[in-house]
Amino acid sequence: MKRVGIIGTGIMGADHARLLTEAVSGAVVGGVFDLDADRAAGVAAASGGARVFEDPHELINDAEIDAVLIASSDATHEEFALACIEAGKPVLCEKPLAPTVEGCARILEAEDRFGARLITVGFMRRFDPGYNDLKRRLGEGAIGVPLMLHNVHRNPANAPGQPDAGLITNSAVHELDITRWILDEEIVEVAVHAPRKTSHGGGTQDPQLLILRTESGAISDVEVFVNARYGYEVRCELVGELGTVTLDSPRPTTLRRGGVTGRELPGDWRPRFAEAYRLELQDWVDGAGGGASAWDGFAATFVARACVAALASGERHEVSLPPVPKIYR
Ligand SMILES: NC(=O)c1ccc[n+]([C@@H]2O[C@H](COP(=O)([O-])OP(=O)(O)OC[C@H]3O[C@@H](n4cnc5c(N)ncnc54)[C@H](O)[C@@H]3O)[C@@H](O)[C@H]2O)c1
Repeated sequence: MKRVGIIGTGIMGADHARLLTEAVSGAVVGGVFDLDADRAAGVAAASGGARVFEDPHELINDAEIDAVLIASSDATHEEFALACIEAGKPVLCEKPLAPTVEGCARILEAEDRFGARLITVGFMRRFDPGYNDLKRRLGEGAIGVPLMLHNVHRNPANAPGQPDAGLITNSAVHELDITRWILDEEIVEVAVHAPRKTSHGGGTQDPQLLILRTESGAISDVEVFVNARYGYEVRCELVGELGTVTLDSPRPTTLRRGGVTGRELPGDWRPRFAEAYRLELQDWVDGAGGGASAWDGFAATFVARACVAALASGERHEVSLPPVPKIYR
């Protein structure tokens, strides 16, 4: 039984703790730490009485903790990931691996020095049954050579005044990863268009339209709209030479009421990707290696940085990733 230590017991940390306790085999929550001690205590109690640590580094280095799940705020990921590598412990680090390219690079270097992969990055869409079906159909040749991927990523509402870059680094970063994963190639050029702003964003440039060109010349476009009001929705359509595959909101039932027929949408990402989070955790606990690597985390932050620059300049930006370190090949 693996004893998982969780750093950060906010929305994601609490959700992961619940899944580890109720829905994943082979692991228990062995310890938790959060700057908010009450929050940590609440999650510990709900996880069968896990130990509440007073210091994150004590948790990381404790002999009773076998693996660490980092679900604290973005800016803390690097410090904790580096400490886990130093301690030789496997990590599931929520996205982003680190908010800066330099921070991601330091983690890559540390893992390279350690000589084996320890880090998995929480790009859970790689475990979503719908995205997997889409990738399988592409792999089987059902739609021929892929030409375009159209993505839609909408949230009902966000805190007003979010920095413009946040739509890229917090939200569209999932599409940056899923584009690389579905098409199995790197993004080499980006442009970001800024349409008329919604009046519901408190001045934030919302929505945004990202245009990503890959090595083979395929285009992936991403509409990211975090104050779309009506619900949480992620969709995409992959267009190939022979046909298309569409990923729709996976709701098995259709509601008919008040003269309208349709599918209900969740209020946020947790119900939409509940199965993906569970499968991601199970894969990580099993050591199966199906998740995104530190290199994938680095690449996503690298492309996100180019998108942020492209948004500011209004120009296309080339993306030239450094060579892939040997341990990720
Ligand atoms: N994979 C996904 O779909 C997904 C979705 C949402 C958020 N995230 C990521 O998950 C992480 C957590 O997001 P959230 O929505 O749970 O945020 P949150 O604000 O609900 O929780 C963050 C927690 O981290 C704690 N924290 C902050 N600094 C800390 C430190 N130095 N040490 C320990 N704890 C600290 C805070 O007290 C808080 O409880 C973020 O990195 C976020 O980007 C991923």
